[in-house]
Amino acid sequence: MAKAIGVDIGGTGIKAGLVDLAHGTLESDRIRVPTPQGAAPSDVLDAVKQVLSTLGLEDSDLPLGVAFPAIVKRGRTLSAANVSKDWIGFEAEKFFEDGLGRQIAFVNDADAAGIAESRHGAARDAQGLTILTTLGTGIGSAFLYDGVLLPNTELGHLWRDHESIEKWCAYSAMERENLSWEDWSARLQEFYSHVEFLFSPDLFVVGGGVSKHPEKFLPLLELNTPIVAAIHRNSSGIIGAASLAAD
Ligand code: BGC
Repeated sequence: MAKAIGVDIGGTGIKAGLVDLAHGTLESDRIRVPTPQGAAPSDVLDAVKQVLSTLGLEDSDLPLGVAFPAIVKRGRTLSAANVSKDWIGFEAEKFFEDGLGRQIAFVNDADAAGIAESRHGAARDAQGLTILTTLGTGIGSAFLYDGVLLPNTELGHLWRDHESIEKWCAYSAMERENLSWEDWSARLQEFYSHVEFLFSPDLFVVGGGVSKHPEKFLPLLELNTPIVAAIHRNSSGIIGAASLAAD
């Protein structure tokens, strides 16, 4: 059975697992460590080594995909909303390859989640434009047209009140401001209505930490586009990164 390893680096946690590529499912436990304070490159690399060794896969030669919460262009990270500014303009893919002593596939975290849901989840066989958003520390987005990824869309950085909209309506904003599901959903309504108007998608898929509780907020949203939870919930990034590594 074809397998690959996925690592999903987030603003709050670093998650990893062994993935069965035929079914797009986790073949191992899902390992998680907190993202090191400040998320500087060398600390993040150490944490990635730690999750791989916990999985017993530090010396494995299976394909390895690493998903990261920033714009990723030709192996370089070009932004850093919820990680150290050291990542801006940084040769991140090479840094991980040197540090881990092996080749990796390196992608944006939301794009990885979008690939997982398109190949093996809620957007499987979806026609037209699927927009996946991850609601977590920030807001990530992936655009897939008939299953083909348009990378680095960054909808969490739509501008609202002089700042990125993710500051106001990511899941972390709900936790930070102690919002009720209703109050948070009203913010999400503004976000999704605007995105719907801009791009006329055919399907919204919602992933990220909060996709564990879709019943608390998805029914509160009024949109013309179907909106569903990611089937792989918070493991989509791991599965997508592994899947891309095996391409
Ligand atoms: C980053 C994105 C990332 C998202 C979710 C945003 O702040 O700019 O690249 O996908 O957070 O982690």
